[in-house]
Amino acid sequence: MVAVSYPVTLIPGDGIGPEVAEATMRVVDATGVSIEWERVDLNAEVLAKGGNVFPQALLDSLDRTRVGLKGPVTTPIGGGYSSLNVALRKKLDLFANVRPVCSLPGLKTRFDDVKIDMIIFRENTEDLYSGLEHEIVKDVVTSLKVITRTASIRIAEYAFNYAKKNNRHQIAAIHKANIMKLADGLFLRCCREVAALNPDIEYKELIVDNASMQLVIRPETFDLLLLPNLYGDIVSDLAAGLVGGLGVVPGANMGLDHAVFEAVHGSAPDIAGKGIANPTALLRSAAMMLTHLGEIAASKKLSHAIEQVYAERDHLTPDVGGGASTAQFTAALISRLK
Ligand code: NAI
Repeated sequence: MVAVSYPVTLIPGDGIGPEVAEATMRVVDATGVSIEWERVDLNAEVLAKGGNVFPQALLDSLDRTRVGLKGPVTTPIGGGYSSLNVALRKKLDLFANVRPVCSLPGLKTRFDDVKIDMIIFRENTEDLYSGLEHEIVKDVVTSLKVITRTASIRIAEYAFNYAKKNNRHQIAAIHKANIMKLADGLFLRCCREVAALNPDIEYKELIVDNASMQLVIRPETFDLLLLPNLYGDIVSDLAAGLVGGLGVVPGANMGLDHAVFEAVHGSAPDIAGKGIANPTALLRSAAMMLTHLGEIAASKKLSHAIEQVYAERDHLTPDVGGGASTAQFTAALISRLK
């Protein structure tokens, strides 16, 4: 039998990106799945070299491979170029951002007496991330929040289809339609429409401020969450904090033709280059990628090995209360995959 080899575009990113990407590549290779890594850089330097135009080489590579594994990329705050992350999601129409938030057995958190197992479905292409900002007159700025029926229906359908296929029972749509009656009102109407076609899935609605409180008070009661872009971004970090922080929460950006797997966290400039970044979030994103590629056994093997290393607690990185380096954590994980 000829062994299958999967081409995957590896985008290390910047900050801690190259550190966690290197670790993840080595661990995925240790699962025995054959991946042809096609490395493409995406950072400020690449952008400057290319005359501030989004790198075509990256789009070409993803058109060939259809699958990407991506580290974080820094976005300048309050000025400079627009987010390359947002640009990539828009260019490939990666409309569904999927972020599973699950307790890791063995990891001490404020909530380790309950089992947290929720998945966040965030619309990934519009809302306030449209980047349509305008200074009308000096010191008066407007920022356009774009919500469309097309994008709202397709993220709602994506979440409900996922629920049906994966035996999940409840979807909570999160909104602020009491204030943004038109924009969030439209998002909510679309969610209700799709919910009505899926009576087997329990559907409820929560205003985003109340949802944030409920998530902290009783996180175990949430199953699937369905949100427009901005609330989805913020609530994802809140939810990450419930299960051990940004170092452990994975994600996927799904489109019709492409899938790009990336952690929830950013480039963590405060710890970049120190060799202590936690690669778990990107590793769990890689486990999602293996499932997407049909390598279910390898994905389970990887997830199980991560759980073992956490349960033993001897090789954890500082963000989750350990004293190990990225390299030591990675070596411990690889030894469990052999
Ligand atoms: P961040 O996620 O980079 O860091 C927040 C805190 O979490 C920091 O204390 C950091 O040390 C810690 N942290 C994050 N990931 C970690 C890991 N793997 N291991 C250990 N500790 C970890 O968020 P921040 O500081 O707000 O953003 C930094 C830059 O990242 C910004 O330019 C932002 O735009 C960008 N960013 C990029 C994303 C992407 O590429 N998808 C997503 C989020 C932010």
